[in-house]
Amino acid sequence: MKDVILRKLKDSKGEFVSGEELSSGLGVSRTAVWKCINELKKEGYVIDSSSKKGYKLSYVPDIINPWEIKEGLDTETIGKSVHCFSEVDSTNNYAKTLAQKGCDDGTVVLAERQTQGRGRLGRSWDSTDKKGIWMSIVLRPAVGLEDVQIITLAASVAVASALKKAMDVNAGIKWPNDIVLDGKKVCGILTEMSMEMERVNYLVLGIGMNFSQQESEFPKEIRDRATSLGIYLKEKHGLDISGFRRSHLVKTILSELEEVYDTIKEGKVGVIIEEWKKYSVTLGKEVLINYKEEQYIGTAQDIDQNGRLIVRLSDGTVREVLSGEVSV
Ligand code: BTN
Repeated sequence: MKDVILRKLKDSKGEFVSGEELSSGLGVSRTAVWKCINELKKEGYVIDSSSKKGYKLSYVPDIINPWEIKEGLDTETIGKSVHCFSEVDSTNNYAKTLAQKGCDDGTVVLAERQTQGRGRLGRSWDSTDKKGIWMSIVLRPAVGLEDVQIITLAASVAVASALKKAMDVNAGIKWPNDIVLDGKKVCGILTEMSMEMERVNYLVLGIGMNFSQQESEFPKEIRDRATSLGIYLKEKHGLDISGFRRSHLVKTILSELEEVYDTIKEGKVGVIIEEWKKYSVTLGKEVLINYKEEQYIGTAQDIDQNGRLIVRLSDGTVREVLSGEVSV
């Protein structure tokens, strides 16, 4: 019912809607309408009430709820089912539980904060309340293990391209899928999967985007390497992040993700690789690779059709790196 009231208030574009119209349209009492209005107000919507004229929506907060995410979302698969929480341990964990219960391809899980956000390589991921986009997407691609890396790279292409479309921000991709702004990490992607008989049963793409944190809100140990869209826009363009909405960026990411996902389903892996290269800040650079116990320095030359990084070491030998961490 809340979503219908919200829809009606939004459709009336800043004009009053009478309590009578809302209650008769929904077939409920005016008290029930009033209760819903109060709940919306508690969530941060600013609604003017007048005993004569009814209700008028005057401000929509940047909150993450299924209505704000689904409104105007132009996708067919990704985001058809959206689950939003004020708090979860990790959206990836929740998404995995849904996937194990058989949820649809493209199911999305979002939270305002995570108490145990996880990063790559066993690290934790700082997920401050309402300051970022903490989101996981369940995918069920009909592929084998060898294609998972491409999907991960494709996700980073989708995020970089969404940042350009939604906010005119030029982001780079550090191999394999860190999104960086002037060398600092603004977004990370954690891909987890379940395999069955050599085929992917499901993938969970976990996307963590720092949106409006101030520098002091990051843990000390990552301050020199991490940034948020807010910090970047202020420093680079003198813009205030309050003029942007997380929900709009979420929708754009989902839409871009659907596009790259369709490209992969059509077997056009080369298109993804070329797109990834356009955003790459790794290729052509000297890199230090940390992989398990090993560490080596070389020049990042290319990525192959499986998304492996081709690194030429100083002795001329060439390594194909599938995972690990790259420092430029
Ligand atoms: C990285 O280390 O670069 C990956 C970070 C991924 C963080 C996101 S936030 C949403 C999802 N839930 C998690 O627990 N992790 C991912």
